[in-house]
Amino acid sequence: MKLKSTIFAVAALPFATLAARTVTDFNDGWEFSRDRKHWAPVAIPHDWAIGADFNPKLDSASGMLPWKGVGYYRKNLVVPGKSVPGRMFLEFDGIMCDGSVYVNGECVGHEDYGYLPLRCDITSAITATTNTVLVKADTTKLASRWYPGAGMYRKVQLVTTDRVYLPKDEIFFRTPEITNDRASCVVSGVVANRTGKTAEGEVTIRLLAPDGSVSAAKTARVSADVYADAPFEVTLDVAAPQLWDMKPGAALYTLEVAWDSESAHDLVSQRVGLRTFRLDADEGFFLNGRRVQLKGVDLHADLGPVGMAFSRDLMKRQLEIMMEMGANALRTSHNPPAPEVLDLCDEMGLFVWDECFDKWNKTAGRENEPLEKFVTDKLVKMVRRDRNHPSVIVWSMGNEIPSEEGFAPGQDKWKMSAAVGTSRERCTRFRAAMKSVDPTRPVGIGCCHTGTASKDDFAELDFTGWNYGERYMPMRKRFPGKPIIYSESASTFSVYGYYADTLAKNKKDFVGDHGMVDSYDRNSAWWSDIPDLEFERMERDRFVAGEFVWTGIDYLGEPSPYEDGTARSSYFGICDLLGFTKDRYWLYRSVWSPEKTTVHVVPDHWNFEKRELPVYVYSNGAEVELFVNGVSQGRRRKDASASFKQGYYEVMKRYRFIWDSVPYSPGEVVAVAYGADGKEIGRETLHTAGDAKRISLTPEKFGNTYVVMVTLADANGVKVPKDCREINFAAEGDVEIVAAANGDPTEKRGFSRTSSYPLHMGRAGLVVRSKGKGRITASAAGLEGASLEF
Ligand code: GAL
Repeated sequence: MKLKSTIFAVAALPFATLAARTVTDFNDGWEFSRDRKHWAPVAIPHDWAIGADFNPKLDSASGMLPWKGVGYYRKNLVVPGKSVPGRMFLEFDGIMCDGSVYVNGECVGHEDYGYLPLRCDITSAITATTNTVLVKADTTKLASRWYPGAGMYRKVQLVTTDRVYLPKDEIFFRTPEITNDRASCVVSGVVANRTGKTAEGEVTIRLLAPDGSVSAAKTARVSADVYADAPFEVTLDVAAPQLWDMKPGAALYTLEVAWDSESAHDLVSQRVGLRTFRLDADEGFFLNGRRVQLKGVDLHADLGPVGMAFSRDLMKRQLEIMMEMGANALRTSHNPPAPEVLDLCDEMGLFVWDECFDKWNKTAGRENEPLEKFVTDKLVKMVRRDRNHPSVIVWSMGNEIPSEEGFAPGQDKWKMSAAVGTSRERCTRFRAAMKSVDPTRPVGIGCCHTGTASKDDFAELDFTGWNYGERYMPMRKRFPGKPIIYSESASTFSVYGYYADTLAKNKKDFVGDHGMVDSYDRNSAWWSDIPDLEFERMERDRFVAGEFVWTGIDYLGEPSPYEDGTARSSYFGICDLLGFTKDRYWLYRSVWSPEKTTVHVVPDHWNFEKRELPVYVYSNGAEVELFVNGVSQGRRRKDASASFKQGYYEVMKRYRFIWDSVPYSPGEVVAVAYGADGKEIGRETLHTAGDAKRISLTPEKFGNTYVVMVTLADANGVKVPKDCREINFAAEGDVEIVAAANGDPTEKRGFSRTSSYPLHMGRAGLVVRSKGKGRITASAAGLEGASLEF
């Protein structure tokens, strides 16, 4: 098929040398159009739907945003000399959802799964000095249970090589043996010869230690036939290996693979790690010989108010917030993440559960296509892309794919026919496909259908992941030798800053206003539980390698329990859509990071009208005493014998300090936490706030991106809760307010309306990008404004 387009934006490239590999960002200078008539400049990564107002007529499950449709991107590519002496590739990390690339009208590549990359060899399509690149992004076939975004939402690079080169995804690094004294590393790959002459040369492989010194090196002679790939494999011996670990600053080596012949050179370099791990059916997960409890979070790929447009800075921020809470693992629910996510996890020391699909067809937008081929191709592509990352420890072929024999409760709306479900044969074949490109990692699946466990669908898988309740138990009984991970736990709901007048009597009792969920952390989805039950399960069921909480951060779409058009984003997050903490964050931190001092009072303000109210304190302390205006309300201890077996909410006494009824009077509440030795370890004081007097801006910096929290303060500097007034914003100089948002899942105003945005419960946030010096200001009638200099 030929597509024609008139191209205006021009990118000139540094083409002086094409002697060896060059990698150039190809993100600037694009134009975008929905109709191919009206074009506007855009920066890549780009999500065409994220700035719109939320439209209740659109599907709330996928975020009420106009992501469905077709969009086009165009750009000129200047090649001096009108042809490429070597090879030229355009590499797209992700085009949602069906991406096609045309160079001078010729289709050079197509990828129909938007979460995977598209690499196009454009060498033969280059016919002029100025070449047109046109990208078509089509989401019309996609169905999604969350907001998937739209367009060229991940980065693009232009890569040039000689005509004999090293295809990057063919390089595979593995460590068959690691002891304290030495590591044996096997490196394989191919030399691709795209010439009419046999290519004779040398492949040199070097492994550089974290300090840059050469740990091991080897050279092999390779002869590649005309227009053929020649495989190579070498074994390196590394003395005194420094082990990668699940902690920041984990030791990373650099693998360099070089090709040298008389006429061609190439060098591919990537970071790798040395570590051992195993999943044990009885004792869980072991890293470098020691048991590690997985304290994981599930995260969807959207970045809140910037949508799916990938930002390394904002992703790093999300991971830092999660790790500060105590998380040591990430499940990339339910799709392959941007490659930078895995780089970050390697660097930061986070374990990764790398997952390919949600459903195998329907929510991937496929009805009747040949399932086997589609799924196999994508699984293999994901594994080849990600297999050299030390942070990736398990592969998941999908999430909640029903068995051929039917639906799990609540899943029938996806109406998947038996032809696309799991079966023993199918899971075995898909596992074999993944193992063929990486025999070193366990392959499993995330599942919620207990019925599947009583059959043999997963009999050949290396492990299984289970979502919610104790659904892992039937599997444990039937296959006691198979490791288990709790792939989704604690689908708890809450809205930041919202406290109803009464407490929920059970997890499905949504007290208070429609659209809100009380923040005492007593509500969860009917299929799930509050965090405390999961903590108890993980203490008890040591054969489970650990839990992944659904979810670390709120995401766009799936606004359960208000899927009636009221809301457009989730209530599940431990943090709100901006990554700002909800109360629940401190509950996790107190349990997952017992070495850190946490003292957090719920409710997190002291401005009420009622005369009595419950108070919870989330703390790592052994005891906590609560004072209201100087009067002790008693000293509490966590009750280690409390269990959900004694009553659903009884288990809270094991992890929270609870005062069922505290007399309220304006003034202050103080929680004082004590260690096991009876000494104070920390305290939190909340004051009753007076009228709002001024705006306060608190920035967090990640690279050139800032997330700015907007709050109000009274005359004494006390944070003012509950306020939902509108705040005006302006930017000057080389600074742009990219998005404005708040933590209210029912807010319908689009994130691109940055000139003013309402607070939600006294809090909102801005995403700001600075290219140089500049300033943002915040103002509102009757309040002292605020500004930030960049
Ligand atoms: C699970 C599903 C997730 C999400 C979650 C909400 O069953 O795997 O994608 O929908 O429920 O609780």
